[in-house]
Amino acid sequence: MTLPNTPSPEPIPGETSAYSRTRIVLHWLSAAVILWATFSGFGVALLDQNDPFRLWVESFNPQLTSLFIPFFAWRLWLAIRAPGRHSAKNVQARLASAAHKAIYGTVAGVLITGVLMMSHPVMLLALVPLPQLIHSKIALLELHQLHHVLCAVLAGLVALHLAAVVLHQVRGKSVLARMS
Ligand code: HEM
Ligand code: HEM
Repeated sequence: MTLPNTPSPEPIPGETSAYSRTRIVLHWLSAAVILWATFSGFGVALLDQNDPFRLWVESFNPQLTSLFIPFFAWRLWLAIRAPGRHSAKNVQARLASAAHKAIYGTVAGVLITGVLMMSHPVMLLALVPLPQLIHSKIALLELHQLHHVLCAVLAGLVALHLAAVVLHQVRGKSVLARMS
């Protein structure tokens, strides 16, 4: 909805091609999965160990995020193959590019540690069994700690990402238009 007297944000000069339809769909899919997994993952820690909602989240989230892995790989592949939009541009564009790379790297780390830290096999959609890959208790504990730290780093990066999007919109540079 556009508010009265609010100028429509102008596209950034020099930005001709927006993201492809596939990249846009994959961006919003991963935003939904990552925001859900982050808020619910940290949120349920406030509940009792045996709270039914906590138990449900702890069973549902590993399935959801495992299903997300091929979509993330697809998205990463499309981003790697895309021509360098930010190359040879100003400092701000280079910072944005570095932030996006940091987000991709951290998501990859969160997914890898998540899969490795499973302390029991996961039944995907009650159909496909995903085996427990690591059995050493010490290694599992360390992976859990790493998963926790990477999730916190990812939450910080996503907060910065959202702040940057809001800042651009407020200044009248529509980065959201490129992603819609
Ligand atoms: C989109 C990627 C993911 C995000 C954003 C995410 C986020 C989180 C968060 C915020 C926590 C709570 C951290 C803590 O309190 O230590 C957590 C815990 C956990 N995650 Fe992930 N995760 C992701 C992927 C995965 C994957 C792929 C798996 C396994 C297949 C997984 C398995 C787990 C497990 C087993 C826990 C511990 C739950 C418990 O304390 O019993 N995660 N995750
Ligand atoms: C509601 C939340 C979100 C909004 C409004 C949003 C908005 C945007 C916008 C407008 C862009 C284009 C920026 C540009 O071209 O300079 C973008 C790109 C990007 N966003 Fe988000 N985003 C959100 C959530 C997320 C989350 C949770 C992630 C974490 C995976 C993420 C990762 C990225 C990445 C990596 C890019 C670079 C383009 C690409 O490779 O697809 N975003 N986002």
